[in-house]
Amino acid sequence: LDLILMGPPGAGKGTQAKILSQRLGIPHVASGDLFRDHLHRQTPLGQLARQYMDRGELVPDDVTIGMIRERLEQPDCRDGVILDGFPRTPAQAQALDEMLSEMGRSLVAVLYIRVREELLLRRLAGRWTCRTCGAVYHIEFNPPRVPGRCDLDGGTLYQREDDTEEVQRRRIQVYQEQTAPLVSFYRDRGLLVEVDGEQPIPEVTAALLQAIEIRR
Ligand code: AP5
Ligand code: ZN
Repeated sequence: LDLILMGPPGAGKGTQAKILSQRLGIPHVASGDLFRDHLHRQTPLGQLARQYMDRGELVPDDVTIGMIRERLEQPDCRDGVILDGFPRTPAQAQALDEMLSEMGRSLVAVLYIRVREELLLRRLAGRWTCRTCGAVYHIEFNPPRVPGRCDLDGGTLYQREDDTEEVQRRRIQVYQEQTAPLVSFYRDRGLLVEVDGEQPIPEVTAALLQAIEIRR
């Protein structure tokens, strides 16, 4: 079962992907998380990615595609993945098609989480992430039970380095320019499912699960 979660920065891709991964028993593969892991471990790839991430620009396609290919070859990805943040350009979408077809697989659905632009900055500004497990909270919309602590493991919550307002605006702009065209690309292929991402988190999850059940 191979799925893509698409949508602008702050739409709730990571939030929903984590929940779906648990419910469906397939791994959550987030390009942004993979880059942040490289950054944290100070690998050469992480050092290269940082130059782009700090500015809200896309990391070059060849680097990104290579990283995802490596991840998809891991044994835990054998029965499918939930992709979050990949593909983001037409070249990445094409590479994904090739990788999946080499493995004898194909996309089941592209789930597009729709949220109006004016809401995105409010969501990103209030986001706090667990240092230990990556769980995502919101100071107002999804607060942790204990301030500054993860509900799941008590880990410390932090704000992402690319969550300054300037970089957030640039990420949204880059999404509109480079990634939004993929919406019609997948719609034309009959794979796109649009879900209203302005509903509360559990309602969005329910809508996504329903769309997946119909298609699989
Ligand atoms: P990435 O990590 O992918 O960031 P992004 O696309 O900007 O998306 P976000 O993680 O900011 O948002 P999200 O949709 O996951 O929202 P979330 O669930 O956290 O990419 C970062 C950088 O890495 C890029 O800029 C680029 O440099 C590089 N990169 C990554 N992939 C790449 C690629 N393929 N090619 C090239 N470069 C790449 O939710 C946001 C907030 O809203 C949270 O606080 C949450 O609690 C809250 N929230 C969620 N849902 C709801 C709801 N329904 N109601 C109310 N609040 C909600
Ligand atoms: Zn945690």
